[in-house]
Amino acid sequence: FCNAACDAFLFAVFIVYTNSGADITNPVVGSPQVVWSANRDRPVRENATLHFTEDGDLVLRDADGSLVWSTNTSGRSVVGMNITASGNLLLFDRKNASIWQSFDHPTDSLVPGQTLREGQRLTANISATNWTRGQLYLTVLPNGLGAFADSTPPQQYYSYTVSKPKAENKSAYVTFTNGSLAIFASFTKPGVPDKSITLPSASSVQYMRLESDGHLKLYEWVTTGWSIVDDVLSLYPDNCAYPTVCGPYGICSDNGQCSCPSANVSSNYFRQIDDRQPSLGCSLVTPLSCQSLQDHQLLALKDVAYFSSSDSVNLKNEESCKQACLKNCSCKAAVFRYDQNLSDGTCFLPSQLFSLMNNQPTVTHYNSNAYVKVQIVPRATNNGTVSSPSSRGKVMGAGAILGSTLGALFAVFLVAGLTVFFMRKKNSHMEEEDQFDQLPGMPTRFSFEELKVATENFCKKLGEGGFGSVFDGKLGDMRVAVKRLDGVGQGKKEFLAEVQTIGSIHHIYLVRLIGFCAERSYRLLVYEHMCNGSLDKWIFYRNQVVALDWQTRRRIITHIAKGLSYLHEECRQRIAHLDIKPQNILLDDNFNAKVSDFGLAKLIDRDQSYVMTRMRGTPGYLAPEWLTSRITEKVDIYSFGVVVMEIVCGRKNLDYSQPEESIHLISLLEEKIKEDRLLDLVDNRSNDMQLHREEVIELMQLAMWCLQIDSNKRPSMSTVVKVLEGAMNVETCLDYNFVTTTPVMPSNANHLEASPPQSAALLSGPR
Ligand SMILES: *[C@@H]1O[C@H](CO)[C@@H](O)[C@H](O)[C@H]1NC(C)=O
Ligand SMILES: *[C@@H]1O[C@H](CO)[C@@H](O)[C@H](O)[C@H]1NC(C)=O
Ligand SMILES: *[C@@H]1O[C@H](CO)[C@@H](O)[C@H](O)[C@H]1NC(C)=O
Ligand SMILES: *[C@@H]1O[C@H](CO)[C@@H](O)[C@H](O)[C@H]1NC(C)=O
Ligand SMILES: *[C@@H]1O[C@H](CO)[C@@H](O)[C@H](O)[C@H]1NC(C)=O
Ligand SMILES: *[C@@H]1O[C@H](CO)[C@@H](O)[C@H](O)[C@H]1NC(C)=O
Ligand SMILES: *[C@@H]1O[C@H](CO)[C@@H](O)[C@H](O)[C@H]1NC(C)=O
Ligand SMILES: *[C@@H]1O[C@H](CO)[C@@H](O)[C@H](O)[C@H]1NC(C)=O
Ligand SMILES: *[C@@H]1O[C@H](CO)[C@@H](O)[C@H](O)[C@H]1NC(C)=O
Ligand SMILES: *[C@@H]1O[C@H](CO)[C@@H](O)[C@H](O)[C@H]1NC(C)=O
Ligand SMILES: *[C@@H]1O[C@H](CO)[C@@H](O)[C@H](O)[C@H]1NC(C)=O
Ligand SMILES: *[C@@H]1O[C@H](CO)[C@@H](O)[C@H](O)[C@H]1NC(C)=O
Repeated sequence: FCNAACDAFLFAVFIVYTNSGADITNPVVGSPQVVWSANRDRPVRENATLHFTEDGDLVLRDADGSLVWSTNTSGRSVVGMNITASGNLLLFDRKNASIWQSFDHPTDSLVPGQTLREGQRLTANISATNWTRGQLYLTVLPNGLGAFADSTPPQQYYSYTVSKPKAENKSAYVTFTNGSLAIFASFTKPGVPDKSITLPSASSVQYMRLESDGHLKLYEWVTTGWSIVDDVLSLYPDNCAYPTVCGPYGICSDNGQCSCPSANVSSNYFRQIDDRQPSLGCSLVTPLSCQSLQDHQLLALKDVAYFSSSDSVNLKNEESCKQACLKNCSCKAAVFRYDQNLSDGTCFLPSQLFSLMNNQPTVTHYNSNAYVKVQIVPRATNNGTVSSPSSRGKVMGAGAILGSTLGALFAVFLVAGLTVFFMRKKNSHMEEEDQFDQLPGMPTRFSFEELKVATENFCKKLGEGGFGSVFDGKLGDMRVAVKRLDGVGQGKKEFLAEVQTIGSIHHIYLVRLIGFCAERSYRLLVYEHMCNGSLDKWIFYRNQVVALDWQTRRRIITHIAKGLSYLHEECRQRIAHLDIKPQNILLDDNFNAKVSDFGLAKLIDRDQSYVMTRMRGTPGYLAPEWLTSRITEKVDIYSFGVVVMEIVCGRKNLDYSQPEESIHLISLLEEKIKEDRLLDLVDNRSNDMQLHREEVIELMQLAMWCLQIDSNKRPSMSTVVKVLEGAMNVETCLDYNFVTTTPVMPSNANHLEASPPQSAALLSGPR
């Protein structure tokens, strides 16, 4: 099994979706999920070997011959190897007795039927993109289940225990079966668990995995891919109680926002590890040194609590708790917690500090203060304030730098006048900058110079459209797409407001805005980079790339639907995209689709009465009501219908290379449905699409529902998602006229005709 770049390999057991004809080696089709691996801490390279030796040892060596992993079973009369249907790899002897099995060496996952025994652990990845064993683990204790952050001593963040005494000489275990995670510890009744966590029963294949963020998630295969069906260790009151939610020293607030501890304006002991990702946590500006204990101080954080208080020390008063921490160099913080109606509290002195959380006494019914140890820098060498994330924009404001450089150049000539001019310029720049609050989780502000460097002076263009050009760029190790907007009419204030809105929207099927630049007249947006580019490249056969198979197309459609559903119905401010088309759907390396380009997105008022002042969108994807003045998010649903048709037919809605009568796909659809010949439309360049014709027709029915001329008859996007997930059927009473024959001319818009438009002039193009 290899990583995305396929330059690091694991010897692994993985679950893969197969059915007749599916190519399991295709990461998109099979969606392989690793449930066990031998060498996660040490992936091997191409040409590594796996050798089942004559004396019964299974040995993995890297390409250079070095030993990476072995079952250590030589000389134990192993005669064969087997993998069971549930995914257990086992070595057995002549009597079919198991000598070694992968189930005894779990990694981060459990499959149904698997048992985790006392002392065994599931250890999470270090991060979602790195297989290496991280610090979080779930283990079976003599009296139940516990999850810990590894440090010395380990810090417990979850426990699920039984109160009955443990049976002597018998070790506890936990078994994952269809519908439950059962704990066996006391063995008072044979075969009956002491306690069970109820899980959603399986309608297809399931597996359970301890995630790098410490959640234990239950996954299930649904028609289009893997879906999370349960978060098994749900922690009250919220996600803030997971040890790595905001990284080391990060403080998590109730809505999952991360920030660093801050003292006051004049001193700052912490900085964000990565300005762009507040959830990676904070580091001490001056590291703690045991050589200078006298320079240790405690930074008081009122109403801040910690996820763990396991192994708390027996100190009942806050002051002695603090003193105990100052005296012990390995103590990184003192957390003192007391129940509102009890007289004494608990003191916890962690030797490693994971994420902290804001405490709301009214919710938790306890009070808690944290005192974080910091190193004081003696005054003599402390020659300035340390730049904090919030002051970053000011420090880097290039306008100010430019002003002073030019100021120096011309000083000789016009000292007074220029000084006044640049001072004023600088001030207004600062003023405007202050209007953008650098909130955690919000996009980062970049200077134009930084983005110029990141894109190597805008040398590699990825695409171009009506709003500007998109360039390939690199910020550190991260690849990004930098969009340079042309002719933005907005002032800086409006632009910042819009950036803030867009930046607050995070969803797996929406392309993430990482940062922006608003400097002088420059307006740039920095987006996450999507390896496989835009969808049009993959469905219109322009570059004669391989045809996407049915499953992939269906998955892409589902992702678009989920992304739009989020924009329309789930995020705080309802948002209509207004320019849904394949050029605005981007694909990552696994062909997961994300909706991009909110450049056209316009916030829609809750009362739905928003009146557009200007016609927006792209011919071919415009809903008929663009001709009237009531525009709602339903226009996206129409465009989505067009895109679905394009995906399953493998052609553009407006294709001028087609014979006259077939130029407009939606007109053709209207014709074919009336003749009951929809099959004619299915992409005939893909065998796989032809093999799934019946299912494709079902999707066309869904598209036709979305294409209803009367926008009230179109389904909502969440309904579309339900249909795609098989939880609902397509409305049967549909109007099969998709093309308005008597276009009502708009009173306020320009001269676009309803359909089929005569010209392909784009109002906005691909990015
Ligand atoms: C792996 O082995 C093959 C055949 O010996 C060779 O052609 C290829 O270059 C090797 N790959 C690497 C990365 O060494
Ligand atoms: C095999 O033995 C080595 C050396 O003792 C040890 O590091 C390794 O973890 C063992 N492998 C397994 C699968 O137990
Ligand atoms: C090998 O696997 C099959 C199917 O899972 C199982 O029926 C059989 O008992 C296994 N053989 C041994 C020796 O474990
Ligand atoms: C071991 O399992 C195999 C396959 O399941 C079977 O054919 C064989 O008879 C078994 N041997 C013994 C000694 O049970
Ligand atoms: C662990 O890392 C691998 C490799 O990047 C990834 O495929 C997998 O999804 C990760 N698992 C978790 C639980 O994050
Ligand atoms: C994974 O994390 C480990 C430990 O931080 C690091 O040494 C390794 O280079 C990382 N691997 C990748 C592929 O990023
Ligand atoms: C537990 O094991 C010890 C030694 O292995 C034995 O002496 C003792 O009787 C056992 N107790 C029970 C309750 O089985
Ligand atoms: C799980 O159990 C439910 C009912 O308890 C059953 O309907 C379902 O088929 C089972 N799933 C599997 C994969 O066995
Ligand atoms: C800022 O915090 C430091 C350390 O906590 C303290 O010594 C200093 O007096 C504080 N300054 C102000 C103005 O509160
Ligand atoms: C403490 O106070 C909470 C609510 O304020 C109450 O629910 C709880 O019963 C009290 N506990 C004791 C021991 O009085
Ligand atoms: C210092 O603190 C660490 C962990 O916080 C603890 O394990 C150790 O026993 C403490 N040492 C002393 C002398 O109290
Ligand atoms: C100020 O501090 C920086 C590093 O923090 C150091 O490089 C510089 O020399 C210091 N300047 C003075 C005047 O002490």
